[in-house]
Amino acid sequence: MSVNVAVVGATGAVGGDFLQILESRKFPVKELRLLASRRSAGKKMQFCGVDYTVQELTRHSFEGIKIALFSAGASISREYVPYAIESGAVCVDNSSAFRMDDDVPLVVPEVNSREIGRHRGVIANPNCSTIQMVVVLKPIHDVARIKRVVVSTYQAVSGAGLKAVDELLKETASILDGKKGFMRNLFPHQIAFNVLPQIPQSNAFLSNGYTSEEMKMVNETKKIMADNTIRVTATTVRVPVVRGHSESVNVETEKKITAAEVKRLLSGAPGVTVIDDTANQLYPLAINAAGKDDVFVGRIREDESIANGINLWIVSDNLRKGAALNAIQIAEKLL
Ligand code: A2P
Repeated sequence: MSVNVAVVGATGAVGGDFLQILESRKFPVKELRLLASRRSAGKKMQFCGVDYTVQELTRHSFEGIKIALFSAGASISREYVPYAIESGAVCVDNSSAFRMDDDVPLVVPEVNSREIGRHRGVIANPNCSTIQMVVVLKPIHDVARIKRVVVSTYQAVSGAGLKAVDELLKETASILDGKKGFMRNLFPHQIAFNVLPQIPQSNAFLSNGYTSEEMKMVNETKKIMADNTIRVTATTVRVPVVRGHSESVNVETEKKITAAEVKRLLSGAPGVTVIDDTANQLYPLAINAAGKDDVFVGRIREDESIANGINLWIVSDNLRKGAALNAIQIAEKLL
């Protein structure tokens, strides 16, 4: 059975991956509606070798649509998801707008696909950094019960959209050209050749000193793993990488689990590829994860500072498993 699909934010960083992944996975698309702001109306985009014209998003955009994939930011989702639901569509929302609402499932198919069944018109796609982490944590939690997680991220600029990619590339070129006074529009400091311990780039800091991105990792991990007792602390950092988030993750478990057991466990886990051959200097890298579907994990070792601890290095394509792919996997389960 093929269905009518709308992509909201089609012209954005995640939008492009939505089209590629719908095509490569042969998602049964009957009619495709590409939606973005007025600025992009009339623009052409290709899907399955056919040109589609981008339309301006309005409250009437969802007539006849069965599945609406949203990736245009939280305020757009808050405003337009209700219209899509009213038109009879089921929305998979990539923004943070509804993630923590009790009646909205927050889904990573490898972890909690059963949650999809209780949706009331919208299913939330978690934060990119959270998705890749829980895909790896879940199999460990099932066997050894995770008590605490300490994570530091190394996040690609594409997580902040195409304008952020543009800023990194132009700033890098400007510095290499020896020019002074590059005009930044997005990041609060130079991102080229630098590392920024602040995500998102504006209005990041909360009263507890954490950023909103960090608290997303804390709260969403508990909701997806359906366990409020897991303690999580996060430091989220932007690095001058275009695609692919990396994470250093320290896990403390209730039951002892060895590094060898974790390797074996993760080697058989859905959506996970273990790359852990230190003798040959092989471990996951953002440049290798870019364009791939899996979550890659390596540097698996016991934390010698505590009784039951494991260290992991987790890398995945933030626009694919961290966004478009996860949303489309949810949509596939819906069908
Ligand atoms: P547009 O390209 O027309 O601005 P990114 O994450 O790369 O910044 O992309 C954001 C996406 O959200 C783009 O497709 C962008 O469309 C879309 N978007 C931004 N503002 C609006 C809006 N007011 N209405 C509809 N789509 C929007």
